[in-house]
Amino acid sequence: MSEIQSLDDVVARATAEIEAVESEPELDSVRVAYLGKKGVITAQLKSIGSLPVEERPIAGKAITSARSVIEKLLKTKRQALLQIVHTKRLESERIDVTLPGRRNFSGGPHPLTRTLMRMQEIFLSIGFDIAVGPEIEDDYHNFEALNIPENHPARAMQDTFYFPDGRLLRTHTSPVQIRYMGTHKPPIRVVAPGRVYRCDSDITHTPMFHQLEGLVVDETTTFADLKGVLEYFVSEFFEQQLKLRFRPSYFPFTEPSAEVDISCVFCHGDGCNVCKRSGWLEVLGCGMVHPALYKDVGIDGERFVGYAFGLGVERFTMLRYGVNDLRLFFKNDLDMLSQFK
Ligand code: PHE
Repeated sequence: MSEIQSLDDVVARATAEIEAVESEPELDSVRVAYLGKKGVITAQLKSIGSLPVEERPIAGKAITSARSVIEKLLKTKRQALLQIVHTKRLESERIDVTLPGRRNFSGGPHPLTRTLMRMQEIFLSIGFDIAVGPEIEDDYHNFEALNIPENHPARAMQDTFYFPDGRLLRTHTSPVQIRYMGTHKPPIRVVAPGRVYRCDSDITHTPMFHQLEGLVVDETTTFADLKGVLEYFVSEFFEQQLKLRFRPSYFPFTEPSAEVDISCVFCHGDGCNVCKRSGWLEVLGCGMVHPALYKDVGIDGERFVGYAFGLGVERFTMLRYGVNDLRLFFKNDLDMLSQFK
């Protein structure tokens, strides 16, 4: 009876100790103290042998049941400790999903790209298609087929970048006229945007710049159509009603040819620094397609008439956004570019 009584004490003590434990190592030392090789319960089991034979089964049963009570308590406590560790970890790794996100530095299209997209949108909306041609051209498409004679100054080495094999970097987008007419029958209504190259570099010239070419060939095309389309285009582009002024000019591939001025987008004709007090800004070249161009491409020049124009994309961009230095477009300066997002 006294054995059982003291076992109850042992269990009560173990229960209290287990209760008080706060960490796994502590819990383990309690386990060792009771169930380890030299533990209290282990000692009790060993002592059974010294009891009278008839008492042994009862004592054995009591001790093993005490042992299983303690084992259960240990197990429960271990789980409780793990739960605490787990909760603490969740607490410390908590993410505040309401915090604002990290800032994302997004880019935007280059101002020239924006201008090109805008120009194409306007022309697409009035029935033009987009045409493209290679930047590496041959003499035939860049000059000869455009009625530019052998001794024309535009062919001079100082203007054109030549490759050793005689090919060249196109000096304008007009070769696309030839390529397009070679592969398409009238009616033709296209604009051809792209890079062009001239061996020229100063404040107002860069070796690479952009043009947008326009070409319309149909049976009843007139110079008045050209005027109407250009007036519509510049007024849409600059989002204001602008006047056009056509000055007679010369291009080998158009006849008659004209240079076109628009009323100044800044002073509306009153005269300012940008238009050099003239009230006008020169923005493009144009004319009726020279009949000589039709021969090689198999278009009947008796039946079809066309007009063409070519404009400088940098110039339009500078005027639209008030950029006063051409070179800013090619500096990759983020302070400048980020203003165009
Ligand atoms: N190709 C000419 C230039 O680069 C512009 C132009 C295009 C003129 C089409 C007339 C017709 O200066």
